Amino acid sequence: MNILVLGSGGREHAFATQLAKSPQCDQLFVAPGNAGTRLLATNLQLAVTDFNAIKAAVLEHAIEMVVVGPEDPLVEGIYDFFKADQALNRVMVIGPSAIGAELEGSKERAKEFMATHHIPTAAYQSFTAETLKEGQAFLATMNPPYVLKADGLAAGKGVLILDNLAQAQKELELMLANAKFGKASEKVVVEAFLDGIELSVFVLTDGSSYKILPTAKDYKRIGEGDKGLNTGGMGAISPVPFADSVFMEKIDSQIVKPTVEGLKKEGITYEGFVFIGLIKVGDDPFVIEYNVRMGDPETEAVLPRIKTDLVTLLEATANHNLDSVPLEIDTRAAATIMAVSGGYPETYEKGKRINGLDKAHEGFVFHAGTTDQEAHVITSGGRVLAVTSLDEDFRVAIKKSYQTLEQISFDKIYYRHDIGFDL
Ligand code: AMP
Ligand code: GLY
Repeated sequence: MNILVLGSGGREHAFATQLAKSPQCDQLFVAPGNAGTRLLATNLQLAVTDFNAIKAAVLEHAIEMVVVGPEDPLVEGIYDFFKADQALNRVMVIGPSAIGAELEGSKERAKEFMATHHIPTAAYQSFTAETLKEGQAFLATMNPPYVLKADGLAAGKGVLILDNLAQAQKELELMLANAKFGKASEKVVVEAFLDGIELSVFVLTDGSSYKILPTAKDYKRIGEGDKGLNTGGMGAISPVPFADSVFMEKIDSQIVKPTVEGLKKEGITYEGFVFIGLIKVGDDPFVIEYNVRMGDPETEAVLPRIKTDLVTLLEATANHNLDSVPLEIDTRAAATIMAVSGGYPETYEKGKRINGLDKAHEGFVFHAGTTDQEAHVITSGGRVLAVTSLDEDFRVAIKKSYQTLEQISFDKIYYRHDIGFDL
């Protein structure tokens, strides 16, 4: 079958790598893709939210499956667009319907969903410009640190964690009354701070049955020791060593099962990935967020560990028979380290020539922000490459990824040297 992957990051290069390996995959397309995906697929120059251009490409190339990488097309309703179009409605779209995508598109909706289905999460209330005063009064009843979340998509920047009450009250005002995050902060969720260690759980569901994919932990801050500005993610380790079978059983019974059953009870069509951000408080898991797609760079650590043919898994997802496919996981750990452009996540330069990509290395070098310029691969984004290695011992996997990175260079390359330091 011909398959299209939407997106252009390391996550999409990892998807393309696994899909290309499948004997079921004939022609593979990535839109818009990067210099890495071009080596195993045909890149199509179109925007992931340009549904009419995607339709034209799907029809032209007889594409039978669309794997959606980022959240924007899902929140904007790509699944529903396909199903409502006679020429497209037999194409498999891996992702939720727009209503399902609200779990990521609206923090308030996600909190309501968790409350309805008794899924453990932090206590909260949500506020609008009209209820700003109540919101500030609510903050005064809480203990620091204060957690403020813009309701809508804010490119990963919409969560503020503040130690000082006056500052939290001021920020609430900036979000609600001064549109700090534009439309995304017309509503704000104020929630209790959860003190614990974070991990992410990835689930593939066809809407009634589900598979729990390998766990991962990502490293969001730019600086070593988890200091400095938030980024899209600087590295990931899979599996998470502290997520033992007892804890995973709690995650399954208290969170994953009620989530999938909740979707079903509410009649929500969902044929895709659920990425659940969790905090382990004491011995118990609490949900901090849902994403309706895979994570980046978590995908670069999770997918290489899945031994089951990915096309088979995704086809079963779209055909509602996921329970008939056994999931086989590589017991080795994966360590992904992200190499970024100096200056990221603030301003950085692009167009730097990348050297060393042709050196033989054992693991995977997934491209994120890269493009081709004549015969060279150059940088085109903040996050440039995601290097993944596998080993029975996650510490050795980490070491191997650093060894690969030592072979690779570009002007102002930066990566954290402490990925996995806390495990
Ligand atoms: P989110 O965009 O929802 O993933 O939030 C960004 C980050 O804020 C998370 O990765 C957590 O580190 C942190 N966070 C979010 N909600 C809470 C909470 N209730 N308690 C503590 N930390 C939180
Ligand atoms: N790495 C976090 C995310 O993909 O949202």
